[in-house]
Amino acid sequence: MSAVKIKENVYAVGIVDWNQRDFHGSTYKTIRGVTYNSYLIKDDKTVLIDLVHKGFEKEFLDNIRQVVDPSKIDIVIINHIEPDHSGAFCEIVKVCSNAKFYGTQKAKEGLFKYYGVLPSQWQSVKTNDSINIGKRTLHFIDTPMLHWPDSMFTYSPQDKILFSNDGFGQHYAANKVFDDEVNKDILFSEAQKYYANILLPYGSILSAKLNALSKTALDIDIIAPSHGLVWRANAAEILDKYTQWSSNICKNKIAVIYETMWKSSETMARKIMEGISSQGAEGYIFDLAVNDRTDIVSYILDSKGIIFGSSTHDNVCLPIMAGFIHFFKGLKVKNRKSFAFGSFGWGGGAVKEIEEVLKGCEGFELFPSISIQYAPNQEELSQCFQAGSAFAKAICSCN
Ligand code: FEO
Repeated sequence: MSAVKIKENVYAVGIVDWNQRDFHGSTYKTIRGVTYNSYLIKDDKTVLIDLVHKGFEKEFLDNIRQVVDPSKIDIVIINHIEPDHSGAFCEIVKVCSNAKFYGTQKAKEGLFKYYGVLPSQWQSVKTNDSINIGKRTLHFIDTPMLHWPDSMFTYSPQDKILFSNDGFGQHYAANKVFDDEVNKDILFSEAQKYYANILLPYGSILSAKLNALSKTALDIDIIAPSHGLVWRANAAEILDKYTQWSSNICKNKIAVIYETMWKSSETMARKIMEGISSQGAEGYIFDLAVNDRTDIVSYILDSKGIIFGSSTHDNVCLPIMAGFIHFFKGLKVKNRKSFAFGSFGWGGGAVKEIEEVLKGCEGFELFPSISIQYAPNQEELSQCFQAGSAFAKAICSCN
């Protein structure tokens, strides 16, 4: 992808990684690829904001070269040091040898730990710090844990652009730059998936930060994240979505997530869903053997109810469910309704194992679990239906 002008003298110069399918190790399936966005501002001083993944240095420098000689860059702003954004750091330090680098103190420490080098000129910055680059003054805003302790935003009031790094990102490769150049429904679906899989554990921090930002009344026309499309037409809408997601505002949605061995737990899941449907609640069944975890997490982001089921194998959960509840614990999902169900042959154990995880989730209201031996009989199927129905009724009657 070439350099693209996003505003007068502001250019997108990042990379599209079309074939990247695993992000964060194997934790995030990026079915639409990934981008590592970077931006260049030409003013009295030339500023580069954010870098790209290792391996793309040449293409990155070629993109920059379409606008300016990289060795003439005066300022490099590092909003975040995770390797998807800092992989090209060593090359940029070398090529932009006269540039002054800006980032948080934690970014400085992290970069040195990762790469063992620092630029000759480094300025640590924090909220309320700013730099004048000619007609523009760039402002820095600490955003710790959005997504790492070092993270920050950079704001250009003259352009009304918020360079938000991981915030407001989506894993969406495209040969377009702006949100209104791609399918809006897919874009928001990818933004939700990204929030759920990357930022969900930090929702309360994000909520507080969004509140603080709204009080400063930043005038924002464009949100330029470090992943995916630039928000131009839908900047206000994605801000509203972030307010909703970070406030844990959910819909009358219920996810039934299970893994099964001889279809007994699956039969239970389907009967529970029948009960849910009888109350008119929205619901979806996810068999962990065929659904991707990344999509399931996206669905549960705004689901009031999350139900987990597994057959018992050697007195514990089946292995994909064991991995899922381990991952789920780390997401720090709060204030939902839930219960566990499953089948067993003799000793049992899966339902208990799931319940232990659910009991550790903040603000979870647990409904009675259902555990059945071998295969569910008519009476037990009726119990599953009633459990689904009662659960959905409770979901639909609460705010
Ligand atoms: Fe896109 Fe936290 O890195």
